[in-house]
Amino acid sequence: MKRIKIEGGHKLTGEINISGAKNSAVALIPAALLSDEEVVIDNVPNISDIDALQEILVYLGANVIRSNGQIKIDARPVVNKEIPEAIAKKLRASYYFMSSLLGKYKYVEMYFPGGCSIGARPIDQTLKGYRALGANVIEEGNKFTISADKLVGNNIYLDMPSVGATVNTLLVAVRAEGRTVIENAAKEPEIVNIATFLNNMGAKIMGAGTSTITIDGVEHLGKGFTEVIPDRIEAGTYVIAGALMGDNLTINNIIPEHIDALIEKLKEAGCKMEVSSSAITLSKLDNGWAINVKTLGYPGFATDLQQPLTTLLTQLSGESILEETIYENRFQNVKYLVDMGADITIDDRKIYVHGPSPLKGAMVTATDLRAGACLVLAGLAASGETIVDSVEHVLRGYENIIGKLTSVGAKIELEEYN
Ligand code: EPU
Repeated sequence: MKRIKIEGGHKLTGEINISGAKNSAVALIPAALLSDEEVVIDNVPNISDIDALQEILVYLGANVIRSNGQIKIDARPVVNKEIPEAIAKKLRASYYFMSSLLGKYKYVEMYFPGGCSIGARPIDQTLKGYRALGANVIEEGNKFTISADKLVGNNIYLDMPSVGATVNTLLVAVRAEGRTVIENAAKEPEIVNIATFLNNMGAKIMGAGTSTITIDGVEHLGKGFTEVIPDRIEAGTYVIAGALMGDNLTINNIIPEHIDALIEKLKEAGCKMEVSSSAITLSKLDNGWAINVKTLGYPGFATDLQQPLTTLLTQLSGESILEETIYENRFQNVKYLVDMGADITIDDRKIYVHGPSPLKGAMVTATDLRAGACLVLAGLAASGETIVDSVEHVLRGYENIIGKLTSVGAKIELEEYN
């Protein structure tokens, strides 16, 4: 077991460099399997979700060399076999392999993917895409067996702009016959990163980053190279840390446009920031005022940042209202913030945060990745000692969080215990 111990109240000064985006990298790696030659991905974050994907690649027989943030994948030796449930359940992105194996071999057996427990997270839109492209899907309990004599392009309208369903449909459609059009596609920057990588391997994808993506299938994908875009959620988390405890804290290696919604909300709360083309510098927000926030797909306010933002809302004057429209169970952090002194009530998909409330250290639990990030931020801002338990969740998505925060003045340690 792992936990993080924080002595709160220390100012954060200096620079934090943002790593490659988890939610891009976890799709780029399975996408590599579609190639018939070697591919190279740079700026891969060193997080446990990537270790889990590497385990799947190696299990399938791919040659993988990973060093200094670069991963080289040669999928030629891959044998298409069932990925054990224990590995598939480690993370959500394991189902991207289901799509790349289906796209390449027209047959796949796999189990329902894992991921943070923040809602039901069905995969009906992904399955709808597979079927529209000509696959037969057999569902037995947790297991899917999916096969196709041939995959043929089609028009697919997603009921909601799902990131997962958009990526999965792309991964199958790139090697299908003819044209696929995905309507109401997700517009997240990660989708653009993935489409650019596939195009670099020889795919023909147009419109990624808009709600209509057109894919003309190709028979062969070859050598490819890409760089993982900066992690906008990691960036946003540390920007919020700056608004809580910063003293000229600079968040480097970011694409500020990707966190525009956060920047605008922080300005609305009274925060002053220096924003350059690839960095943001800010200091603690004193006497900030309450704001209302509603999560939406990109370019709206990211659901992945609402829990980290809640820590800041506890420090603003007045009533902030935060509405979560993407996931039905993403307020598990609230109970622990209340234990630390926050005044928050939950009403279905909304929380009402009354501030400012001084936070005090407590024993809290990271129930999921971003809940953990929220509680680490709370620990940095609180008086006394905070212990965040079950931080395996946090380590899945934040590269070197201890080292990065320590380098800017936080008193924070990782502890292992039995
Ligand atoms: N949905 C369905 N049916 C589907 C697919 C989605 O009902 O077939 C619903 C989901 O239940 C959810 C909403 O649509 O209510 C959006 O889900 P989406 O498919 O967009 O999410 P995802 O692909 O499972 C990715 C990220 C999440 C991030 C969301 C939204 C990865 C590996 N995960 O999940 O990241 O919250 O997009 O932006 O890319 C995180 O990093 O902490 C995280 C949870």
